[in-house]
Amino acid sequence: MKKRALITGITGQDGSYLADYLLGLGYEVWGLVRRTSLDPMLRLGELTKHTGMHINYGNLRDSGTLRFALEESKPDEIYNLAAQSDVGISFKCPDETMEINYHGLGRLVHEAVRVRPDVRIYQASTSEMFGKTKPPQNELSSFQPVSPYGEAKLLAHEHFVKGYREKHGLFICSGILFNHESPHRGEHFVTRKITISLSKIKLGMQDSFSLGNLEAKRDWGFAGDYIKAMHLMLGRKTPADYVISTGISHTVREFVEAAARALGINLSWSGSGLDEVARDDKGKVILTINKEYYRPNEVHHLMGDSTKARTELGWSPEVTFDGLAEMMAKADYERLSKLR
Ligand code: NAP
Ligand code: GDD
Repeated sequence: MKKRALITGITGQDGSYLADYLLGLGYEVWGLVRRTSLDPMLRLGELTKHTGMHINYGNLRDSGTLRFALEESKPDEIYNLAAQSDVGISFKCPDETMEINYHGLGRLVHEAVRVRPDVRIYQASTSEMFGKTKPPQNELSSFQPVSPYGEAKLLAHEHFVKGYREKHGLFICSGILFNHESPHRGEHFVTRKITISLSKIKLGMQDSFSLGNLEAKRDWGFAGDYIKAMHLMLGRKTPADYVISTGISHTVREFVEAAARALGINLSWSGSGLDEVARDDKGKVILTINKEYYRPNEVHHLMGDSTKARTELGWSPEVTFDGLAEMMAKADYERLSKLR
């Protein structure tokens, strides 16, 4: 019998990589897809034609659709990747964020245990839950979230992951993943915004772009490496939570520099604060600072210690920071040069 996996958030960055990976392992993959006005299947591409791939229309806000998807897919494993995943937007839409990221997991778990009490569930928790906690952060560090997104994810982790595991014996675990990126990354996250903007500038399709806080530090890895850890967690004898990270952090400024290098753009910085700019080799301003992109409250430094995952799961990341910036910059450059 083929193993069956249900992935919520299958149309997102991680969902697309995970579906591909599990299909490659011989799984039957079921994806929960919400109805949108534009084609939500773009990232899945040819995978939608795979005989092992099935789609259920549904929404984490709607228990009935979850029950139907669970009854139809009868999954051995559930990967709950669906979320309002934009931290900046969560300050503007806190209720929506709580509704999907916290109550959504509650609905899913409640329905899942009725359909299949021995199911294994992966919850997409996040380093954003650490918030102000000093790095390096690991499974024993305290949580001090500063955004509605981080708060909703922390509540989901405490109430539904730890709660159902400890009180009801459910196999459910949190992957506390640090930032991970790829050419499939949403276009409003900072790395992808940078690689798209620099590619357009290089191709003469755009003059300049703006960013917010350049000094925030993140521990950036490659999504294709991180989804493997999700699968490894559900293959353990007993459920546990794991930090997944590279252990190395860089500033947003360093990501701009790495992506520019990959595209052969020589940057020079001048000015400071909101007046800082970056120029290209010809002295043209290509990057300015806009306070609109600063957040009401910022997580300044995330850097994970993933010793537990490396030891117990045998997991480690393969793509380096420079390799990631180059992969993303080149993918955008090639895609956009065909469009031009
Ligand atoms: P993403 O690209 O933004 O994808 C989010 C997915 O959730 C999309 O498929 C989206 O569907 C779906 N979704 C949103 N609201 C929904 C709802 N009400 N019902 C059903 N589906 C809904 O996010 P990602 O980067 O792949 O991240 C995957 C998960 O990991 C998220 O839970 C995120 O919070 C968490 N996480 C991500 C990172 C990271 O650095 N990427 C780090 C830590 C944790 P549409 O296509 O219709 O929008
Ligand atoms: N998005 C964005 N846009 N961020 C900017 C910009 C900008 O123009 N300028 C500076 N930044 C800074 C943000 O203030 C933040 O400090 C950093 O760049 C990273 O922002 P994002 O790429 O939006 O990611 P994030 O760290 O807030 O959240 C991502 O990682 C979390 C894990 O720590 C998301 O993927 C979350 O879903 C995930 O949980």
